[in-house]
Amino acid sequence: TLRIGILTGGGDCPGLNAVIRAVAKSLMRQCGAEVIGIEDGFAGLLEDAPRVRPLTWEAVSGILMLGGTILGTSNRADPLRSPADTERVLRHVQALGLQGLVVIGGDGSMRIAHGLAAHGLRVVGVPKTIDNDIPGCERSFGFDTAVATVTEAIERLQTTAQSHGRVMIVETMGRYAGWIALEAGLAGAADVILLPEIDYDIEAVAAVCRARAQRRRHTIVCIGEGAKPVGGALTVQAHEAGRPEPLRLGGVAHALAQALQPRVSSEVRATVLGHVQRGGSPTPFDRVLATQYGNEAAQLVMAAAWGRMVTLQQGRLGSVALADAAHGSRQVPPDHALLRAARQIGVHLGERLGA
Ligand code: F6P
Repeated sequence: TLRIGILTGGGDCPGLNAVIRAVAKSLMRQCGAEVIGIEDGFAGLLEDAPRVRPLTWEAVSGILMLGGTILGTSNRADPLRSPADTERVLRHVQALGLQGLVVIGGDGSMRIAHGLAAHGLRVVGVPKTIDNDIPGCERSFGFDTAVATVTEAIERLQTTAQSHGRVMIVETMGRYAGWIALEAGLAGAADVILLPEIDYDIEAVAAVCRARAQRRRHTIVCIGEGAKPVGGALTVQAHEAGRPEPLRLGGVAHALAQALQPRVSSEVRATVLGHVQRGGSPTPFDRVLATQYGNEAAQLVMAAAWGRMVTLQQGRLGSVALADAAHGSRQVPPDHALLRAARQIGVHLGERLGA
Protein backbone atom coordinates (compact mmCIF):
# COMPACT_ATOMS: atom_id res chain seq x y z
CA THR A 1 0.00 0.00 0.00
CA LEU A 2 0.90 3.60 -0.59
CA ARG A 3 2.35 5.27 2.51
CA ILE A 4 2.43 9.06 2.48
CA GLY A 5 3.65 11.60 5.05
CA ILE A 6 2.08 15.02 5.68
CA LEU A 7 3.58 17.98 7.47
CA THR A 8 2.70 21.62 8.07
CA GLY A 9 5.59 24.10 8.03
CA GLY A 10 6.02 27.83 8.69
CA GLY A 11 3.43 30.09 10.31
CA ASP A 12 0.03 28.58 10.95
CA CYS A 13 -3.07 29.62 9.07
CA PRO A 14 -6.80 28.89 9.44
CA GLY A 15 -7.65 25.96 7.18
CA LEU A 16 -4.52 23.86 7.70
CA ASN A 17 -6.51 21.13 9.40
CA ALA A 18 -9.05 21.19 6.59
CA VAL A 19 -6.19 20.51 4.14
CA ILE A 20 -4.76 17.72 6.31
CA ARG A 21 -8.18 16.12 6.54
CA ALA A 22 -8.85 16.34 2.81
CA VAL A 23 -5.42 14.96 1.82
CA ALA A 24 -5.79 12.06 4.25
CA LYS A 25 -9.41 11.19 3.50
CA SER A 26 -8.91 11.46 -0.24
CA LEU A 27 -5.85 9.18 -0.18
CA MET A 28 -7.45 6.68 2.18
CA ARG A 29 -10.71 6.48 0.26
CA GLN A 30 -9.31 6.45 -3.22
CA CYS A 31 -6.35 4.15 -2.88
CA GLY A 32 -6.37 2.80 0.67
CA ALA A 33 -3.18 4.71 1.44
CA GLU A 34 -1.65 4.86 4.88
CA VAL A 35 -1.19 8.47 5.90
CA ILE A 36 1.42 9.46 8.45
CA GLY A 37 1.40 12.85 10.17
CA ILE A 38 4.79 14.40 10.91
CA GLU A 39 4.86 16.59 14.02
CA ASP A 40 6.07 20.20 14.11
CA GLY A 41 6.94 20.50 10.45
CA PHE A 42 10.43 19.60 9.33
CA ALA A 43 11.51 19.63 12.98
CA GLY A 44 9.74 16.27 13.38
CA LEU A 45 12.02 14.78 10.72
CA LEU A 46 15.22 16.45 11.88
CA GLU A 47 15.41 15.00 15.34
CA ASP A 48 17.27 11.77 16.08
CA ALA A 49 13.99 9.92 16.47
CA PRO A 50 11.42 11.23 13.98
CA ARG A 51 8.14 12.27 15.57
CA VAL A 52 5.21 10.91 13.63
CA ARG A 53 1.72 9.59 14.22
CA PRO A 54 -0.67 7.67 11.98
CA LEU A 55 -3.47 9.80 10.58
CA THR A 56 -6.32 7.34 10.69
CA TRP A 57 -9.82 8.17 9.52
CA GLU A 58 -10.73 8.85 13.18
CA ALA A 59 -7.68 11.09 13.66
CA VAL A 60 -8.76 13.40 10.85
CA SER A 61 -12.48 13.34 11.62
CA GLY A 62 -13.90 16.38 13.36
CA ILE A 63 -10.92 18.64 12.61
CA LEU A 64 -12.34 20.52 9.61
CA MET A 65 -13.35 23.55 11.62
CA LEU A 66 -10.37 23.69 13.96
CA GLY A 67 -7.90 26.58 13.68
CA GLY A 68 -4.14 26.04 13.78
CA THR A 69 -2.68 22.67 12.85
CA ILE A 70 -3.19 19.44 14.77
CA LEU A 71 0.30 18.38 13.68
CA GLY A 72 2.09 21.44 15.03
CA THR A 73 4.48 23.51 12.94
CA SER A 74 7.89 25.13 13.11
CA ASN A 75 9.40 28.23 11.54
CA ARG A 76 13.02 27.49 12.03
CA ALA A 77 13.65 23.87 11.13
CA ASP A 78 15.54 23.75 7.84
CA PRO A 79 16.81 20.41 6.51
CA LEU A 80 18.85 22.27 3.89
CA ARG A 81 20.95 24.01 6.53
CA SER A 82 23.64 21.35 6.31
CA PRO A 83 24.25 18.21 4.24
CA ALA A 84 24.04 16.16 7.45
CA ASP A 85 20.54 17.54 8.18
CA THR A 86 19.41 16.87 4.62
CA GLU A 87 20.75 13.35 4.82
CA ARG A 88 19.03 12.73 8.17
CA VAL A 89 15.64 13.82 6.82
CA LEU A 90 16.00 11.62 3.72
CA ARG A 91 17.07 8.69 5.89
CA HIS A 92 14.07 9.14 8.21
CA VAL A 93 11.65 9.36 5.29
CA GLN A 94 13.04 6.08 3.98
CA ALA A 95 13.05 4.38 7.40
CA LEU A 96 9.42 5.39 7.90
CA GLY A 97 8.60 3.74 4.58
CA LEU A 98 7.15 6.94 3.17
CA GLN A 99 6.77 6.87 -0.60
CA GLY A 100 6.04 10.56 -0.73
CA LEU A 101 5.53 13.67 1.34
CA VAL A 102 2.85 16.36 1.24
CA VAL A 103 4.26 19.66 2.49
CA ILE A 104 1.73 22.32 3.45
CA GLY A 105 3.56 25.58 3.99
CA GLY A 106 4.65 29.02 2.87
CA ASP A 107 7.45 30.12 0.58
CA GLY A 108 10.11 28.92 3.04
CA SER A 109 8.61 25.42 3.16
CA MET A 110 8.27 25.33 -0.64
CA ARG A 111 11.95 26.26 -0.99
CA ILE A 112 12.83 23.37 1.34
CA ALA A 113 10.48 21.00 -0.49
CA HIS A 114 12.11 21.93 -3.78
CA GLY A 115 15.58 21.47 -2.33
CA LEU A 116 14.66 18.02 -1.00
CA ALA A 117 13.07 17.08 -4.32
CA ALA A 118 16.43 17.79 -5.94
CA HIS A 119 17.81 15.09 -3.61
CA GLY A 120 15.24 12.64 -4.90
CA LEU A 121 12.45 13.14 -2.35
CA ARG A 122 8.98 12.67 -3.83
CA VAL A 123 7.05 15.67 -2.64
CA VAL A 124 3.86 17.63 -3.38
CA GLY A 125 3.39 21.15 -2.04
CA VAL A 126 0.27 22.98 -0.84
CA PRO A 127 0.72 26.76 -0.40
CA LYS A 128 -0.67 28.48 2.68
CA THR A 129 -0.76 32.07 3.89
CA ILE A 130 -3.29 34.49 5.33
CA ASP A 131 -1.55 37.21 3.28
CA ASN A 132 -2.98 36.05 -0.08
CA ASP A 133 0.28 37.08 -1.72
CA ILE A 134 1.48 33.90 -3.43
CA PRO A 135 2.46 34.63 -7.03
CA GLY A 136 0.39 32.60 -9.49
CA CYS A 137 -2.21 31.71 -6.86
CA GLU A 138 -5.14 34.06 -6.76
CA ARG A 139 -6.63 33.00 -3.44
CA SER A 140 -4.94 31.26 -0.53
CA PHE A 141 -6.92 29.61 2.24
CA GLY A 142 -6.82 31.51 5.53
CA PHE A 143 -7.15 34.90 3.86
CA ASP A 144 -10.94 35.00 4.05
CA THR A 145 -10.80 34.13 7.75
CA ALA A 146 -8.19 36.81 8.46
CA VAL A 147 -10.32 39.39 6.62
CA ALA A 148 -13.37 38.36 8.64
CA THR A 149 -11.46 38.69 11.92
CA VAL A 150 -10.03 42.10 11.01
CA THR A 151 -13.43 43.30 9.82
CA GLU A 152 -14.98 42.37 13.14
CA ALA A 153 -12.21 44.20 14.98
CA ILE A 154 -12.70 47.35 12.88
CA GLU A 155 -16.43 47.25 13.59
CA ARG A 156 -15.68 47.20 17.31
CA LEU A 157 -13.24 50.07 16.91
CA GLN A 158 -15.91 52.04 15.04
CA THR A 159 -18.16 52.29 18.07
CA THR A 160 -15.47 53.32 20.53
CA ALA A 161 -13.90 55.75 18.03
CA GLN A 162 -17.30 57.26 17.39
CA SER A 163 -18.07 57.68 21.10
CA HIS A 164 -14.87 59.66 21.65
CA GLY A 165 -14.54 61.32 18.27
CA ARG A 166 -11.11 59.77 17.97
CA VAL A 167 -8.78 58.80 15.20
CA MET A 168 -8.33 55.03 15.48
CA ILE A 169 -5.52 53.36 13.62
CA VAL A 170 -5.72 49.60 13.14
CA GLU A 171 -2.75 47.66 11.86
CA THR A 172 -3.22 44.43 9.93
CA MET A 173 -0.79 41.69 8.90
CA GLY A 174 0.02 40.89 5.28
CA ARG A 175 3.77 41.46 4.96
CA TYR A 176 4.54 43.32 1.71
CA ALA A 177 1.01 42.90 0.38
CA GLY A 178 -2.01 45.00 1.28
CA TRP A 179 -4.75 42.47 0.54
CA ILE A 180 -5.88 42.02 4.15
CA ALA A 181 -5.83 45.76 4.88
CA LEU A 182 -7.66 46.57 1.65
CA GLU A 183 -10.46 44.01 1.91
CA ALA A 184 -10.97 44.30 5.66
CA GLY A 185 -10.71 48.08 5.45
CA LEU A 186 -13.45 48.16 2.86
CA ALA A 187 -15.58 45.62 4.72
CA GLY A 188 -15.17 47.46 8.03
CA ALA A 189 -15.91 50.88 6.50
CA ALA A 190 -12.48 52.35 7.22
CA ASP A 191 -12.16 55.98 6.14
CA VAL A 192 -8.49 55.71 5.25
CA ILE A 193 -6.72 52.56 4.00
CA LEU A 194 -2.94 52.56 3.82
CA LEU A 195 -1.18 49.81 1.89
CA PRO A 196 2.40 48.71 1.30
CA GLU A 197 1.74 49.26 -2.40
CA ILE A 198 1.00 53.01 -2.03
CA ASP A 199 3.36 55.11 0.09
CA TYR A 200 1.19 57.41 2.15
CA ASP A 201 1.41 61.17 2.50
CA ILE A 202 1.17 62.01 6.21
CA GLU A 203 -0.15 65.52 5.50
CA ALA A 204 -2.96 64.10 3.39
CA VAL A 205 -3.93 61.59 6.08
CA ALA A 206 -3.91 64.38 8.68
CA ALA A 207 -6.03 66.63 6.45
CA VAL A 208 -8.63 63.87 6.06
CA CYS A 209 -8.80 63.39 9.84
CA ARG A 210 -9.13 67.16 10.45
CA ALA A 211 -11.84 67.57 7.84
CA ARG A 212 -13.81 64.72 9.36
CA ALA A 213 -13.38 66.09 12.90
CA GLN A 214 -14.82 69.41 11.70
CA ARG A 215 -17.94 67.51 10.72
CA ARG A 216 -17.84 65.88 14.17
CA ARG A 217 -16.84 62.56 12.64
CA HIS A 218 -14.35 60.04 13.97
CA THR A 219 -11.80 58.46 11.62
CA ILE A 220 -10.77 54.85 11.17
CA VAL A 221 -7.41 54.31 9.50
CA CYS A 222 -6.65 50.73 8.45
CA ILE A 223 -2.95 50.23 7.73
CA GLY A 224 -1.15 47.15 6.40
CA GLU A 225 2.00 46.28 8.35
CA GLY A 226 4.20 46.79 5.28
CA ALA A 227 2.95 50.35 4.61
CA LYS A 228 5.30 53.28 4.86
CA PRO A 229 5.21 57.04 4.42
CA VAL A 230 6.51 58.68 1.27
CA GLY A 231 10.28 58.66 1.60
CA GLY A 232 10.08 56.47 4.72
CA ALA A 233 11.74 53.13 5.34
CA LEU A 234 10.08 49.77 5.74
CA THR A 235 10.03 48.59 9.34
CA VAL A 236 11.58 45.24 8.58
CA GLN A 237 14.44 44.28 10.81
CA ALA A 238 15.56 41.01 9.34
CA HIS A 239 14.80 39.65 5.96
CA GLU A 240 15.20 38.07 2.54
CA ALA A 241 18.81 37.27 1.70
CA GLY A 242 19.56 35.85 5.10
CA ARG A 243 16.53 33.55 5.24
CA PRO A 244 15.46 31.52 7.20
CA GLU A 245 15.57 34.48 9.60
CA PRO A 246 11.91 35.30 10.16
CA LEU A 247 10.33 38.48 8.96
CA ARG A 248 9.75 41.08 11.60
CA LEU A 249 7.12 43.44 10.40
CA GLY A 250 4.64 45.39 12.47
CA GLY A 251 4.69 48.55 14.51
CA VAL A 252 3.61 50.85 11.71
CA ALA A 253 0.40 51.83 13.51
CA HIS A 254 2.29 53.37 16.41
CA ALA A 255 4.72 55.17 14.11
CA LEU A 256 1.76 56.61 12.22
CA ALA A 257 -0.02 57.59 15.46
CA GLN A 258 3.07 59.51 16.59
CA ALA A 259 3.36 61.33 13.30
CA LEU A 260 -0.36 62.06 13.17
CA GLN A 261 -1.06 63.26 16.72
CA PRO A 262 0.70 66.65 16.42
CA ARG A 263 -1.14 67.29 13.16
CA VAL A 264 -4.71 66.76 14.42
CA SER A 265 -6.75 67.97 17.37
CA SER A 266 -8.57 64.64 17.94
CA GLU A 267 -7.00 62.03 20.16
CA VAL A 268 -5.21 59.33 18.18
CA ARG A 269 -5.08 55.69 19.28
CA ALA A 270 -3.44 52.68 17.67
CA THR A 271 -4.37 49.00 17.74
CA VAL A 272 -2.14 46.24 16.40
CA LEU A 273 -4.20 43.12 15.74
CA GLY A 274 -1.21 40.81 15.36
CA HIS A 275 -1.66 37.07 15.59
CA VAL A 276 -5.32 37.35 16.54
CA GLN A 277 -5.93 37.48 12.79
CA ARG A 278 -4.18 34.15 12.24
CA GLY A 279 -6.04 32.22 14.90
CA GLY A 280 -9.44 30.62 15.22
CA SER A 281 -11.80 28.61 13.13
CA PRO A 282 -11.70 29.01 9.33
CA THR A 283 -14.68 30.59 7.59
CA PRO A 284 -16.90 28.35 5.45
CA PHE A 285 -15.19 29.78 2.35
CA ASP A 286 -11.75 28.80 3.66
CA ARG A 287 -12.97 25.36 4.74
CA VAL A 288 -14.15 24.70 1.21
CA LEU A 289 -11.04 26.16 -0.45
CA ALA A 290 -8.69 24.23 1.86
CA THR A 291 -10.66 21.03 1.21
CA GLN A 292 -10.21 21.54 -2.53
CA TYR A 293 -6.49 22.19 -2.12
CA GLY A 294 -6.05 19.08 0.00
CA ASN A 295 -7.99 16.89 -2.37
CA GLU A 296 -6.04 18.26 -5.33
CA ALA A 297 -2.77 17.47 -3.54
CA ALA A 298 -3.98 13.89 -3.06
CA GLN A 299 -4.76 13.66 -6.78
CA LEU A 300 -1.21 14.80 -7.58
CA VAL A 301 0.17 12.15 -5.22
CA MET A 302 -1.90 9.42 -6.85
CA ALA A 303 -0.84 10.61 -10.30
CA ALA A 304 2.80 10.55 -9.09
CA ALA A 305 3.05 14.20 -10.16
CA TRP A 306 5.93 14.77 -7.76
CA GLY A 307 7.76 18.06 -7.44
CA ARG A 308 4.61 20.12 -7.95
CA MET A 309 2.63 22.63 -5.89
CA VAL A 310 -1.15 23.03 -5.97
CA THR A 311 -2.41 26.44 -7.22
CA LEU A 312 -5.60 28.28 -8.03
CA GLN A 313 -5.57 30.34 -11.22
CA GLN A 314 -8.58 31.99 -12.85
CA GLY A 315 -10.78 30.07 -10.45
CA ARG A 316 -9.32 26.70 -11.51
CA LEU A 317 -7.26 24.33 -9.41
CA GLY A 318 -4.00 23.33 -10.99
CA SER A 319 -0.35 22.96 -10.16
CA VAL A 320 3.05 24.42 -10.94
CA ALA A 321 6.53 22.93 -10.70
CA LEU A 322 8.03 23.51 -7.24
CA ALA A 323 10.99 25.01 -9.08
CA ASP A 324 8.70 27.80 -10.31
CA ALA A 325 6.68 28.05 -7.09
CA ALA A 326 6.07 31.04 -4.94
CA HIS A 327 8.98 33.35 -4.57
CA GLY A 328 8.34 36.90 -3.50
CA SER A 329 5.06 38.55 -2.78
CA ARG A 330 2.07 39.15 -5.07
CA GLN A 331 1.10 42.73 -4.29
CA VAL A 332 -2.10 44.63 -5.03
CA PRO A 333 -1.63 45.91 -8.62
CA PRO A 334 -2.03 49.70 -9.05
CA ASP A 335 -4.98 49.26 -11.42
CA HIS A 336 -6.86 46.82 -9.16
CA ALA A 337 -10.64 47.21 -9.25
CA LEU A 338 -10.89 47.45 -5.45
CA LEU A 339 -8.50 50.43 -5.38
CA ARG A 340 -10.59 52.18 -8.00
CA ALA A 341 -13.81 51.43 -6.14
CA ALA A 342 -12.33 52.62 -2.85
CA ARG A 343 -11.31 55.95 -4.39
CA GLN A 344 -14.63 56.35 -6.15
CA ILE A 345 -16.64 55.95 -2.95
CA GLY A 346 -14.36 58.37 -1.11
CA VAL A 347 -12.12 56.03 0.88
CA HIS A 348 -8.78 57.77 1.18
CA LEU A 349 -5.70 55.73 0.21
CA GLY A 350 -3.10 58.07 1.67
CA GLU A 351 -2.39 59.70 -1.66
CA ARG A 352 -1.40 63.35 -1.78
CA LEU A 353 -4.53 65.50 -1.88
CA GLY A 354 -5.26 66.96 -5.26
CA ALA A 355 -2.87 64.46 -6.86
O1 F6P B 1 2.86 35.44 6.46
C1 F6P B 1 1.94 35.37 7.49
C2 F6P B 1 2.27 36.34 8.59
O2 F6P B 1 1.25 36.25 9.57
C3 F6P B 1 2.46 37.78 8.12
O3 F6P B 1 1.24 38.43 7.85
C4 F6P B 1 3.28 38.34 9.26
O4 F6P B 1 4.10 39.41 8.86
C5 F6P B 1 4.14 37.17 9.69
O5 F6P B 1 3.49 36.00 9.22
C6 F6P B 1 4.34 37.07 11.18
O6 F6P B 1 5.24 36.04 11.43
P1 F6P B 1 5.52 35.44 12.88
O7 F6P B 1 4.34 34.58 13.24
O8 F6P B 1 6.77 34.67 12.69
O9 F6P B 1 5.64 36.59 13.82
